[in-house]
Amino acid sequence: MAVCDEKGARVIEFQAVRKQYGNGTVAVEELSLSVPVGTVTVLVGPSGCGKTTLMRMVNRMIEPSSGSVLVDGTDVRQRDPAQLRRGIGYVIQQAGLFPHRTVLDNIATVPILDGQTRRAARARAAELLDRVGLPAELAKRYPAQLSGGQQQRVGVARALAADPPVLLMDEPFSAVDPVVREGLQDELLRLQDELDKTVLFVTHDIDEAIKLGEKVAVLRQGGHLAQCAEPDELLAEPADDFVTSFVGRDRGYRRLSFVDSHDLKPRPVPTVELGTAVDPSDQWRLAVDTEGKPRGWLAPGHGAEAVLSEKSLVAGGSLHQQDGPLRGALDAALSAPSGQGVVVDSEGASLGVVTAEEVLALLERRRAAS
Ligand SMILES: Nc1ncnc2c1ncn2[C@@H]1O[C@H](COP(=O)(O)OP(=O)(O)OP(=O)(O)O)[C@@H](O)[C@H]1O
Ligand SMILES: [Mg+2]
Repeated sequence: MAVCDEKGARVIEFQAVRKQYGNGTVAVEELSLSVPVGTVTVLVGPSGCGKTTLMRMVNRMIEPSSGSVLVDGTDVRQRDPAQLRRGIGYVIQQAGLFPHRTVLDNIATVPILDGQTRRAARARAAELLDRVGLPAELAKRYPAQLSGGQQQRVGVARALAADPPVLLMDEPFSAVDPVVREGLQDELLRLQDELDKTVLFVTHDIDEAIKLGEKVAVLRQGGHLAQCAEPDELLAEPADDFVTSFVGRDRGYRRLSFVDSHDLKPRPVPTVELGTAVDPSDQWRLAVDTEGKPRGWLAPGHGAEAVLSEKSLVAGGSLHQQDGPLRGALDAALSAPSGQGVVVDSEGASLGVVTAEEVLALLERRRAAS
């Protein structure tokens, strides 16, 4: 039996849980998994592997055939289902909003059920609307009058309304386009930074799992736990062929997202300041503004203007935030027209440059030393 165990406080615990439906389908094969307090744990796996079944056993929408699910140390079978669910926020695909209630009343639903006055619940709902990045004027609309991404945000706000310590999120972002999805993921990470909930998140998208999860549990058909690990470990050491093929291509490159760059030393780069006169040179030069922020590159042979303007520049590549993941440094180098990735400080001012070769050399030094 695969086990994903954690030391310390656990909020959700699946203990040897098995689920066989009435028609004989085994959706979850004896599985143990614990979700530590204040973390985002992601269940990821192909369609039909038992993710939703597992999640619904937490709030007693589905009962296990054997084994137990504990929330805060208590077997959920000992809890009143309605009361249990009010302490667990639940967000699903397509948001699952009530179509005949306004956005504000959708968000206020659980607090009102919990006995709050309508007025207090609506005030809190308005606050949450802002928190999930939606403008106040959406409050009076009905769900059908919102975009898919906005509906998902309302779904998240509704789940947060009763301030539950636990959030279950079942493919909440899978129905929106990739750009909106990325925005929603960033928003969730930002919210989680503030709120520190215990989140069990389900997805079939490994990139989403790796981005959001502090712990990622990979499931395969029949609810088998194939591997449970931190994202970095999952990419570096997939447990078997199934996980290897599931984490997919580019895993070596993608893993750089989890590799820090603290010992990457930017080199000085010749710079020119916008708005000043510049002589030609045979080198690439980084154009900066008066605050030292990069604005683009001046190609070899260019310059000699009375005043350097943006018109003379070649657009720059991505920027690498100092001490950020190494993937950013490599990407900065690969995307810069000069082949030199610009490293910036927290204010966005240039600290110098690195080449792809230097990033790779650093990786090689670390590998040799380990
Ligand atoms: N009520 C049910 N009765 C019988 N079989 C069911 C029932 N609900 C789900 N199943 C089966 O159990 C298995 C797991 O289903 P589940 O919904 O948990 O998968 P999932 O991982 O959430 O899939 P998806 O990614 O498509 O949402 C599937 O084979 C499904 O057909
Ligand atoms: Mg599902």
